[in-house]
Amino acid sequence: MLLPEPGMVVAQDGYGIPLLITRDKAGKIHLFLNACTHKGAALVDDCAARKWSTISCPYHAWAFGLDGRLIGVPRAESYANFDKTTRPLTRLPSQESGGLIWGILDPHAEADFSIVDNQIAVDFQHLGLPNWHLYGQRRFNLDANWKLVMEPFLEGYHVQRLHVNSIGPQGMDMFADVVGVADRFGLHTRQTSGRGNYKPEVLDDPQINIRNFVTHAYNLFPNTVVITSPYYTSVMIIMPVDAAHTRVDYYMLTETAPDNPKAEELYARSFTIIQDVFGNEDFKASELCHRGLASGAVPDVIYCGMEAAIPQFYEGIEGVLRAESQS
Ligand SMILES: [Fe+2]
Repeated sequence: MLLPEPGMVVAQDGYGIPLLITRDKAGKIHLFLNACTHKGAALVDDCAARKWSTISCPYHAWAFGLDGRLIGVPRAESYANFDKTTRPLTRLPSQESGGLIWGILDPHAEADFSIVDNQIAVDFQHLGLPNWHLYGQRRFNLDANWKLVMEPFLEGYHVQRLHVNSIGPQGMDMFADVVGVADRFGLHTRQTSGRGNYKPEVLDDPQINIRNFVTHAYNLFPNTVVITSPYYTSVMIIMPVDAAHTRVDYYMLTETAPDNPKAEELYARSFTIIQDVFGNEDFKASELCHRGLASGAVPDVIYCGMEAAIPQFYEGIEGVLRAESQS
């Protein structure tokens, strides 16, 4: 979606280390550090996706292939005993699955992607996500711990309350005030909740657009959220900056690029509404929660049955940290 075609390059600066993602001519994804192996200069200065056959450093024009090989060095004869093959881009382990690119932000780490669950990839293939169009994106900078930003996407309890003036009202048929079905795939969660118009019989019709009747909210461990809607799908990557700050990259995907004024108007309106709902309601709530918790005002917190996926999420984090500290 972000790199839909072979021969594309995009930088990602949200993780504290500069990342460069490429899709080579053969369509394979690569993840590198966005740093020239000459003197460390950032090769790509912004985060726009672009079509390039090589990546050229703006400083001394060292040129790299999209597979990371160093292929061009101006005045190479002026280096002593220089061997281009010894200075490729620094590679990080990566894998593409269900339209998403997974990476491990440590060049020395083993490429262990056992965390990526096949069922999620199958779901995303069925939803068509790998081929969807990136309609719009926006970055949010939040004053909250990243786990508190994740929480509202793990429960439906708040929907009729926090979103009472936007997507929550019963009359809008968008969400029912019920416990959703939460399925776990490894450390990932898929929550399925019927919209107001949902009836079990709708599933008998293979022609229906499931997104009109059911909302799927995926929490991909540890920090990605995917939520379906009738006309679009939201993808959010929730990146911790420090214990009290979080960066969220929000992406709105549509099945196709808008090809008529009505579709453009619908997508534009959806983009505005969803940013308002997430930005001014969910993210705002996370910041309010952070303020209260950081002050030490409450000794502990309590979760109800409609929020059951939240303690499971924390157990998952603790399990990973425990395993990490024992290894
Ligand atoms: Fe919400």
